[in-house]
Formats: sequence, C-alpha cells, structure tokens
Amino acid sequence: MASEPVNVSEFEALAKKALPKMYFDFYAGGAEDEYTLKDNEEAYQRITIRPRVLVDVSRIDTSTSILGYPISSPIMVAPSALHQLANPEGELATARASAASNTIMILSFSSSYNVEEVAASCDAVRFFQLYVYRGRHIAANLVERAERSGYKAIVLTVDCPRLGRREADIRNRMIVPKLKNVEGFVSNDVDAGGGSNLEAYANSTFDPTLSWKDVAWLKSITSLPILLKGILTHEDALKAVEVGAAGVIVSNHGARGKIPVIVDGGVRRGTDVFKALALGAQAVLVGRPIIYGLAAKGEQGVKQVIQMLKDEFELTMALAGCTSLKDITRSHVRTDRDRFQ
Ligand code: FNR
Repeated sequence: MASEPVNVSEFEALAKKALPKMYFDFYAGGAEDEYTLKDNEEAYQRITIRPRVLVDVSRIDTSTSILGYPISSPIMVAPSALHQLANPEGELATARASAASNTIMILSFSSSYNVEEVAASCDAVRFFQLYVYRGRHIAANLVERAERSGYKAIVLTVDCPRLGRREADIRNRMIVPKLKNVEGFVSNDVDAGGGSNLEAYANSTFDPTLSWKDVAWLKSITSLPILLKGILTHEDALKAVEVGAAGVIVSNHGARGKIPVIVDGGVRRGTDVFKALALGAQAVLVGRPIIYGLAAKGEQGVKQVIQMLKDEFELTMALAGCTSLKDITRSHVRTDRDRFQ
C-alpha cells in the first residue's frame, strides 16, 4: 500500500504483508469455525446510533479514568501474547506507544519481554494480566514481581482453563517461542505430536482447577486491585462483585453495575467504542488492531492505531451530540433487542 493507512482494517492488510503466515494466522485467527470472531465485529455493525442534534459540540472531552487512573480516551491496550513475533521491539514498543497515547496497557503474562523489562521501558500506568499455571508458586512469583515493578492492577484471565482449538495454529504447527516471564519455571519444549506446540504447551501449563475460591487466594497475596477478564454472563458478573473483584472485563455488552465494566472483542472503529459505552461499558480494550499497528510500523504504528480509534470516537461523539463521556447514554443506541421489543 503506497499511501498511509486510514483505518484499522488497512493496518491489518499491512500486517498481513509484513508477517510470516504462521504469525499472522496466530494473531488474526480464532477458535474452530471462527463464528464468534466474526460476530464480535458484526455485532457492533448491528447496533445503530441514535444521534442527538443541535448540541454545541465545539469542545469534546474524550478523557476518563479507570480505577482512578486518568486516560485520554476509553480505549485501552488488551493483553496479547508474544509481541516480538510482530516486531523485534515487542512489548517495549507497545508500552512506549501506549504511554505516549496516555492510555493504559495491560501486559500479557505470555509476553516476549518480561515484566521488569517492560516496566523499565517507560514511565506509565500499566496493569499486569495473569494466567495461573499448575503450581501456584509461578503466579505468586509473577504477581510479586509485577507489584514490585509498579504495575497498578492484576487482570486475572478466567476464561482459559484450556486453550480453544485454534485450527490455523494446528495446521501451521505453530511453535511457541520462549515466554520470558516464566524462564526458570517451565520450558516450552513440549511434544505437540505434529500439531500446534502452542496448544500442547498451554494445555500442559494452565491450571484447570482454578475456581472462584482462588480469587480470595490471589487477594491474600497482593494489595493490588484485581480485575476478572473473560466474564460473559450476568451470573458471573454478580459473583465477581461478591468475591471482591475491582472490575470485570466482558466480551459482549455489559450492564452498568457496582464495579467498572470493560469490554473487548471486535472493536475496530471509534463508533464501536461509542456503542460499547452507550451499552454501559466504562472503557474498551483493543487487541488485534494494536498488533497490526506493531507489525506494520512498530511503535509508530501502535500510536497511529490508538490515535485513529480515538479520533473516530471523538468524531462520533460530536455527530451524536455528546461532549463528554457522561453524555453517552443507553438512548444513544438501538440494538436488535430494541427493534424486536
Ligand atoms: C489474545 N488475548 C489474550 N488475553 C489474555 O488475557 N492473555 C493473553 O496472553 C492473550 N493473548 C492473546 C493473543 C492474541 C494473538 C490475541 C488475538 C488475543 C485476548 C485479548 O486480551 C483480547 O481479549 C482480544 O484480543 C480482544 O479482541 P480483539 O480486539 O482482538 O478483537
């Protein structure tokens, strides 16, 4: 592409060109038939905006805060694994771009650079995403290191007792590189039987016994607030409040509740951010778009992706007659549910 990308999907096209197929498929793919992957994006397209007109929109404020930390817009960086497969600077570049964009990056447990290296890369508010492996000492070690390195919250991923079947990775015989955070604890040298070594690795390390009582254990070993990532039902959101979670991260629309709700999955446009907020989210996470920016143009690409989404979001606010986040309400969108009621 000779000209500069003007939207996230053009960054995806650039990333596809820049990356070996095995890595692009790893980032872009989903599980099994990938219905959910497609629907995550299409669900936003089915929601329409109900703009209000004749509002003075000469000044628009996109800023907000999460757990008391100010961010320039409700767009945060999702934890995603192995950024070095996209760019040699990996999470160091992503961290610097997030900091320059005044947003919060959630560092993945499965990062290419370790918690200390990313913390040293630049000064910014960051959260740490935790997977719990068999043998709780590994999680305890990582939580302690994250806290010591200045991370401000622990994001416990709760939807991954086993890895979903990512068929592209199986076909490509994806090989998981060394995970820096667990060096000295586990090796990635797992017999994949000719399939995806990532799947074999995850299934031999993730602890499938993790349950609600373990949130209390996690609270006992850290003073940091704990967000639960991967809540999909109202029932589990209520349980998250009961066990003292500081927030939940859902993958579909959430209701406004007693604790902040962050949404992710399929956010590709500023309009999607607006729709998520109208349905009750306090912020969104973006995953793949960040990696596409990183693969296409390194740190600069990540900055551009965040800026693009923020600019689109700001324009959507103006066209919908909202000058600050508190103006965005449920009445600003129409969903399938509204149509059929
Ligand atoms: C992820 N995600 C993820 N989540 C997590 O808690 N820990 C992790 O290490 C990873 N790794 C990871 C790798 C890749 C390649 C992808 C695509 C995703 C999930 C991620 O945090 C987030 O939920 C989704 O990426 C959001 O959806 P979009 O924005 O990619 O559509």
